Amino acid sequence: SFNIKKICCIGAGYVGGPTMSVVAQQCPHIQITIVDVNVERIAAWNDENLDNLPVYEPGLTAIVAEARGRNLFFSTDVDKAIDEADMIFISVNTPTKNYGKGKGMAADLKYIELCARQIASVAKTDKIIVEKSTLPVRTAAALKSILDHTGNGVNFHILSNPEFLAEGTAIQDLLAPDRVLIGGENQEAIDTLVKIYQNWVPDTNILTTNLWSSELSKLTANAFLAQRVSSINSISELCEKTGANVDEVSKAIGMDTRIGSKFLKASVGFGGSCFQKDILNLVYIARSYGLNEVADYWDQVIIMNDHQKQRFADNIIQTLYNTVSGKKITFLGWAFKKDTNDTRESAAIYVADYLLSEQAEITIYDPKVTAERIYADLDYLNTRSPEENRALVKVVNDPIQACQDAHAIAVLTEWDEFKNYDWYTIKHQMKRPAFIFDGRKLLNRKYLEDLGFKYYAIGE
Ligand code: NAI
Repeated sequence: SFNIKKICCIGAGYVGGPTMSVVAQQCPHIQITIVDVNVERIAAWNDENLDNLPVYEPGLTAIVAEARGRNLFFSTDVDKAIDEADMIFISVNTPTKNYGKGKGMAADLKYIELCARQIASVAKTDKIIVEKSTLPVRTAAALKSILDHTGNGVNFHILSNPEFLAEGTAIQDLLAPDRVLIGGENQEAIDTLVKIYQNWVPDTNILTTNLWSSELSKLTANAFLAQRVSSINSISELCEKTGANVDEVSKAIGMDTRIGSKFLKASVGFGGSCFQKDILNLVYIARSYGLNEVADYWDQVIIMNDHQKQRFADNIIQTLYNTVSGKKITFLGWAFKKDTNDTRESAAIYVADYLLSEQAEITIYDPKVTAERIYADLDYLNTRSPEENRALVKVVNDPIQACQDAHAIAVLTEWDEFKNYDWYTIKHQMKRPAFIFDGRKLLNRKYLEDLGFKYYAIGE
């Protein structure tokens, strides 16, 4: 295998940051530089106060504290890091295209291509290029073509090494991955990356495949995971009509080892930057090959997810006597799941947007998400002006105060702390009847009903 002394990672986001921090912690003999064009993000990664890291993940600060300045560096000097590296991870964002051909479906590969072109123009020595970002199947061929045609006679080997971490448990997932997947064409390059992971991952958990299987496996994994959520969510609606309880159904089917118990929790719908984007991408790819049945099959996962968010909001409106106009509704949670400050595609955004269009007044509390982020999420939708969003939406730092005088509370994120609030006090400071709409099935029905709440949970 090749000798790797220096690694560069392009993209210091939710994947690049935690992933390369763990590699650095586990491989003190390799110098790792994570670069990004986002100056504030790099400054935050370099902040002396570890509470200011741009990504919140349990366990992350300890790892950064250990490796940063030793063999882990964060920088905006992309060219220098590329030039010095033997191996380059590309971990930039690959959002859904919002313009042109494939708008709203295809992955936008402009950031990836920019990286390839920058590497090609800067590189003076041979390098292994690792696709860490989630990419459409066959992207490696495009990368290779760009690198080979604009380079300086340098040899590039391309590997696909998709990341399977889940936000909220990223560090745990990185330290003990179910599997590390490495796809490639050149055995020596594959062996080189395998050797790096062998520093902490058992051989049996390192899987090598061809490039295309590796690229497609990541899209497929996310499609399957999201599909489970949409499947149980579809059943939750049926439960509400029939007197079945979705938690009971979920438990009953999950005990079948062929089905398994994970990812079977009904909710207001999945969010996060990946599931929707990757399924849309899968659907787009299938359609581009004329595989309409395949495309329609996976498209339904998204349709069901959108329906679930809408249904949750509709139920709030209907229950509040068919109008939420001028009523205070408190959102507990804005992040797309607990233990992360990431809000991308969070169900909360869409539920809020829908209620705001009905002139609700929303107050939001989330333990890790800033007001700035929340307003940016709403403004991004362009449903109403930034001024209107600020007039209708309040963001507060105190959950008890958030609930004061509210007509209803909606639980949008499953943060543990919500379970332990002083619900007695909250109840007495709310309007009557006091409604709770639990989009995460987090709270205890009996306890809340005994306190006098009207409690609604999905699938019951
Ligand atoms: P992110 O948006 O948090 O981070 C991407 C970073 O790349 C940004 O900070 C951006 O400024 C930087 N960047 C973009 N173009 C650049 C360039 N030309 N030069 C230098 N920096 C550049 O995105 P995130 O969440 O880290 O995702 C990255 C990739 O990993 C995506 O393809 C995503 O699908 C994939 N992925 C994400 C997971 C997640 O849980 N967030 C899990 C597994 C894979």
